[in-house]
Order: sequence, then structure tokens, then C-alpha cells
Amino acid sequence: MQTKIQDDPMFLEVQNLSVDLKEFYLDNVNLSLDKNSYMVIIGPTGSGKSVLLETIAGFYRAEKGKIFLEGKEITELNPENRGISIVYQDYVLFPHMNIFENISYGLKKKTKDEEIIKSKVLKMAKLLKIDHLLHRNPDTLSGGEKQRTAIARSLIVEPRILLMDEPFSAVDVSTHAYLTKLIKNVIADYETTCIHVTHNFNDVWNLADKVAVMKEGKILQQDIPTEVFSKPSHNFVADFVGIHNIFEGEIIEKEGSLTKIKLDSDLIVYSSDSSEDSGKILVGIRPENVIFSNETFVSSVQNQIKGVVNEIVKVGPIVWIEVKIGQINFKGILTPNSCEKLKIKKGKNIYLSFKSVNVKIIDKKEFYTP
Ligand SMILES: Nc1ncnc2c1ncn2[C@@H]1O[C@H](COP(=O)(O)OP(=O)(O)OP(=O)(O)O)[C@@H](O)[C@H]1O
Ligand SMILES: [Mg+2]
Repeated sequence: MQTKIQDDPMFLEVQNLSVDLKEFYLDNVNLSLDKNSYMVIIGPTGSGKSVLLETIAGFYRAEKGKIFLEGKEITELNPENRGISIVYQDYVLFPHMNIFENISYGLKKKTKDEEIIKSKVLKMAKLLKIDHLLHRNPDTLSGGEKQRTAIARSLIVEPRILLMDEPFSAVDVSTHAYLTKLIKNVIADYETTCIHVTHNFNDVWNLADKVAVMKEGKILQQDIPTEVFSKPSHNFVADFVGIHNIFEGEIIEKEGSLTKIKLDSDLIVYSSDSSEDSGKILVGIRPENVIFSNETFVSSVQNQIKGVVNEIVKVGPIVWIEVKIGQINFKGILTPNSCEKLKIKKGKNIYLSFKSVNVKIIDKKEFYTP
């Protein structure tokens, strides 16, 4: 294949990258990232997120494809010559060195000037709020403090890209939120381009300029978070990001700005999305966008349908309500309070309302078939 040289290359460009690990295949991955932007990668366990990061870092050999950084190919470069740092979830610090020595470790390979080293470590430690810990040994630190040290150590060498593999997964929820805030500040200050693997969707909302969804060694979709979450391109992505109502349907016609879609059991729904596909498509409706009522009501909402409560499942502070409409099972969520108010019980007739903007068309051509 001809190497693609662009006039204005993306900061990081991964082209048709495949890695063969015998029992796992990273399959023709394409990925692009602007300078100073933040990519978050999500996907189920075993989908190849870590293998992808480690291939970008240079630990796995590409069987096929190319990686470009700032327009220069790095596919065959040794890891230490790529200018890429990687941070793991289990913050591997050097146990026999104190925090100052841990952070300055990589920097010492670049400069011998003690004053420069000291001031750089101090600046970084202040930003990550660990400047009071510099004399301590790693085994006396909390998980969050160790992770901040690991990030400081990786960032201090000013990598061209910082890769983070589930960096916050070993810390509690409030530490996670705190670390998110700190990492945001520090990468803005150091103008670092980041790729961050996570299982936590809050990281997507709080950090990502772009999100990529992986499954079985493939990237299924990469885009800005609102686009991926509101308009998933595959049924798998829709399911993974929490759109539980995914139905096959058929486009009947355009009615003004609305698309009229027929689902199973001749149920008609209206979507504000349009599709170039005529005929079969998938629609996705997030459960939190479904409004329950005992009666029909006059409103601007284009979709109002009647069904029967089929199942009620309480999960933590919310109640999942499954409503049967012909062959279709629709899922919505309510608080226990609302359930009581609406007298929700199995077998009860109920109306579901949802706006046409919340009926998302997932094009058939993008169907993911496992
Ligand atoms: N060195 C290796 N040799 C062979 N197979 C490997 C190797 N490293 C990883 N794998 C396999 O590749 C697949 C993808 O692994 P990877 O660690 O990238 O998943 P992941 O998406 O990061 O999952 P998790 O969310 O659990 O961290 C897994 O099936 C794993 O067993
Ligand atoms: Mg992993």
C-alpha cells in the first residue's frame, strides 16, 4: 500500500494497523488525533484497548499498517525513541526511591542540571498536589497519591503523547473525581496529547474531545462524545453506551422534518433523524428519554404509545420498567416515588411518550454482526 503523506497531517495517525497475537487480532485499526486533544477509548474487557495502546507505545509489532506521529512514521521505532509515555492502573513506582526520585527518574536521563530537575519536579508536584510528599517512600502513599506520582513521572519528560491505561480504576469515586480535575489542569498546562482507556463513562464526558469504541480488536466508532452517545453507528455501540431500546424498523416516508418509521407489530414512531437508507434501519431510544403516564396528554411530543407493564426491576435508586407493545419490549426508568404515584404494577396499561429527537436512526449499513 502506498504511504499516505498529507499536507497537513493529524498529530497522531494510525492507519490500517493490525497486530497478530495468535489468539487475538487487532484488526485494521484507523485512528486520528489532533495535537493537544484528548481521546478516550472504551470497550468491553478483552476488546484490545491495552494491546492498541501498547502497540502505539511500541511494545507490540505491527503486522500490517502504519503509525505516524507529527507526520513522521514511527511504526518501526523502538519504544524509547517514540517520545510516548504510558501510565498503568497499578502505578508501578520504584519502591526503593522516594517520590522526588521517582518523579525525576526519566528527567535525569535528559539533563544533569540539578536546579532544572528540582524546579521541574516541584512545578509538576505542585500541579498534581503532591509537593508535600516528595521526601516520602511510595509504600507510605495512598492509591490516589501513588497514581498522581505515576502521572507526574510520565509527564515530566514532556512526552509527545501520554497514554493512560485505566489510570483511575484502582481509586475510590471521590479520588477519581479529584484526579480527573487535576489531570485536566496538568495536561492543559503541559499541552499534552492524551489517549486514555477507561471503563468509566464519566471519563468520557469529563475529559474526552473524542471517544473511540472498541470491540473484538476493531474500532467501531470514533467521534466527539455527544455524537457517539446520541448517534451510535452500530447496534453494539448503542447497546454498550446504554441505549437499551434498539428495534428493527422500516422507513415509511418523510413527513416534513420527521421520518416516519414502522417497527414490529406495526408500531409507528417518528424520528427527527434522517437516513439515506430507505427500507430497513435500526432505531435507538434511551430509557431515560421515555416519559410514563396513565392517560394520554396533549403536548408537542410526537410519539405517544400505549402498552402493558410487563416487568418491574428495582436496581439501586432506580426502577426499570419493561412495557410490552405487541412483540416489542420497551424499557424505561422511573424513581420508586414515581412508580408509586403512577401505581405501576405488572399488567397495568400505561402510555409512553418520547420526543422525535430522541428516536435515533442507526443506519443498517453500519450494523455490527458478531
Ligand atoms: N501478549 C499477548 N499475547 C497473546 N494474547 C494477548 C497478549 N496480550 C493480550 N492478549 C489478548 O488480547 C486480547 C485483548 O487484550 P487487552 O488487554 O488489549 O484487552 P482490554 O480491552 O485492554 O481489556 P480490559 O478492559 O480487560 O483491560 C485478550 O484476549 C488478551 O488475552
Ligand atoms: Mg486493558
